[in-house]
Amino acid sequence: MSNYLSRIARRARQSIPGIAPKLDEMDFHSGLGDSAHLLYGIARALKPRVAVEIGSARGKSACYVGRALKENGSGKLFAIDPHTRTDWNDENSVDTLDEMRRNVRALDLEKQVEIIRETSERAAARWMLPIDMLFIDGDHSYEGVKRDWELFSPHVSEFGIVVFHDTMWDRQPDSPYSRSDMGVPALVEELRVSGYPVTTINRDFGVSIVQPTVSGVSLRNSEPAARQG
Ligand SMILES: C[S@@+](CC[C@H](N)C(=O)[O-])C[C@H]1O[C@@H](n2cnc3c(N)ncnc32)[C@H](O)[C@@H]1O
Repeated sequence: MSNYLSRIARRARQSIPGIAPKLDEMDFHSGLGDSAHLLYGIARALKPRVAVEIGSARGKSACYVGRALKENGSGKLFAIDPHTRTDWNDENSVDTLDEMRRNVRALDLEKQVEIIRETSERAAARWMLPIDMLFIDGDHSYEGVKRDWELFSPHVSEFGIVVFHDTMWDRQPDSPYSRSDMGVPALVEELRVSGYPVTTINRDFGVSIVQPTVSGVSLRNSEPAARQG
């Protein structure tokens, strides 16, 4: 189908009540790109009981994880974002709560995605649940992303996974979108050098998967590896 026709089909689907939009055709104004499929795939394979995301905006990552949880038939995503002006809103994505709610509802993911309108610092203060999948895409300053790692990674379960977005900015310093206060690459590089297993996909500004156990979880039938942090 030509671009023109597929755009018309998408608009029609989105505007007719009762006809669900197609996830891949929804426009979330997000820089996550096709890496949303990585989150979907991890959630389908890992079958998290509890997933947490820090930084939701209009809900692209939340909807891909939520869709995976729905297909799994279990699990819940807690999607944390103040949905107000921060230093890290994408262009035209400041007051995103209503739009995120609309997107989650349009995809019938309200049971899978719980929207928490709060900063990660506040949400962390009363966090108690073990987390199987943690996606960090909120405050991208070095202090902010480090704080999110330190507050939430101790809750991650033994084979749980942490995913960071925007980890490749130091490898593309001339990009027109570059910012001197971007701290995600530095933090994830520190984790890698400290011995945490880090695998990076060099697309969509960099998506890094981290196992939050120094030198990885042992595959031998022995004592669980010591956690650090
Ligand atoms: C790049 S956007 C997230 C994009 C989203 N994950 C997606 O898939 O499109 C970054 C978001 O982080 C949020 N944010 C900034 N500081 C935050 C904090 N301290 N706690 C939680 N979210 C925060 C902003 O409100 C913004 O919506």
